[in-house]
Amino acid sequence: MINSLKIIHKFNIIIFENKLKVSIGCDHGGFDLKLIIAAWLKDCKYIVIDLGNEVYNINDDYPDFAERVSRNVVAGNSDKGIIICGSGVGACIAANKIKGARASVCHDTYSARQGVEHDNMNILCLGARVIGEQLAKELISAFLGATFLNESRYNKRLEKIKNLENKQ
Ligand code: RB5
Repeated sequence: MINSLKIIHKFNIIIFENKLKVSIGCDHGGFDLKLIIAAWLKDCKYIVIDLGNEVYNINDDYPDFAERVSRNVVAGNSDKGIIICGSGVGACIAANKIKGARASVCHDTYSARQGVEHDNMNILCLGARVIGEQLAKELISAFLGATFLNESRYNKRLEKIKNLENKQ
């Protein structure tokens, strides 16, 4: 679960071991960036669940991968999700159709962190045609490093979102 950072002292070397499970998906618009990000997350010792696309396919469709990632997160099989498409927008729209998914496009680090702290955002959507590799890594670091602030005012708002889902 979400306590990601464990420090192990071994032969005077400090090893950071991230236990957070992160599912990741993309369409063709996000394919190249997903390869880079998945490898980087593994290097950072996150447990990465890659839900495709497995190959570059210009005819693939972002709702398919948004659904896989969202369902994986909502089912509790991963702690957080990342979906990458061309703009991040389509992936976000599709992800939020899955009950329990709280996805947003964040291309600034304030929103990537605060979206988790206040809104319990569980899926970060990124646009590979909008941002570069370095900013993507900084956004993901802010997103994965943040924890929901379990305050009554935030919980009250989340309850209202759940009520909206149940009205459908
Ligand atoms: C795919 O070409 C592109 O439309 C898609 O990745 C995304 O930008 C949609 O939001």
